[in-house]
Amino acid sequence: MSKIELFNDDCMKAMQSIQSDSIDLLLTDPPYNLGNFMKNRDTNLKKMRTNFFGDAGWDNLEFEEWKKTINSFFKEASRVMKIGGAAIVFMSAIKVETVIEIAESYGFYYKTTGIWHKLNPMPRNMNLHFVNSTESWIYFIYKKKTGTFNNQSKLIHDFVETSVVPLKEKKFGKHPTQKPECLMNHFIGLLSNEGDVVLDPFMGSGTTGVVAQQMNRDFIGIELDNEYYDIAKKRIDEYGNKT
Ligand SMILES: C[S@@+](CC[C@H](N)C(=O)[O-])C[C@H]1O[C@@H](n2cnc3c(N)ncnc32)[C@H](O)[C@@H]1O
Repeated sequence: MSKIELFNDDCMKAMQSIQSDSIDLLLTDPPYNLGNFMKNRDTNLKKMRTNFFGDAGWDNLEFEEWKKTINSFFKEASRVMKIGGAAIVFMSAIKVETVIEIAESYGFYYKTTGIWHKLNPMPRNMNLHFVNSTESWIYFIYKKKTGTFNNQSKLIHDFVETSVVPLKEKKFGKHPTQKPECLMNHFIGLLSNEGDVVLDPFMGSGTTGVVAQQMNRDFIGIELDNEYYDIAKKRIDEYGNKT
């Protein structure tokens, strides 16, 4: 059975209690610094979504403040990573370069920037402009050039295509930027092995934790917001109770 450790706290603080050199895979989806950008655009997002992330308060830092947060995060992440451990960090395309620069300064070896394509995005303003259907992810290895890559001799593209989150994954409540379980399954399967430790310091509704358990990995998850933490805990407990 997987070992699970969850924190309802600021990850900059909670990560300090994680043992050094203990994480095999860091799989996380931090704030993209898009809250103010989206709020200042007439996207109609607020009217279309009750839980619009621009209003949620966790992604509205000014750029320099956000950069400082990402910097503190990678500093602490570099302490807890095992040498040769992998990291996947989801990000908005316009912030990818900033994240790479910061991560490299803490010893993360940059490998790839890939794309997640949503097959059924919300067709928001589809007659006015391109429909937003992609997010980026950045792949690093800590202090080595290669790590676990369970491709079973198959060619793996840097482009992942899935549907958006199905309703059954939202039964304990909604998170505005929830990732589908099949997406996390792709990365956990490729970049870690059974018994490894997976860390998600910005776990939101706990998707990484649910999948880590399904795949027999240990999991450490951190979430600042009480409401999202409760959703994550319920989802992760539900899986644990079934096994
Ligand atoms: C993009 S969302 C993650 C969504 C997640 N991948 C899922 O599937 O639900 C980022 C999350 O980070 C949380 N967060 C922001 N700052 C944080 C911090 N300093 N420590 C811990 N969590 C934080 C936010 O509350 C938000 O839920």
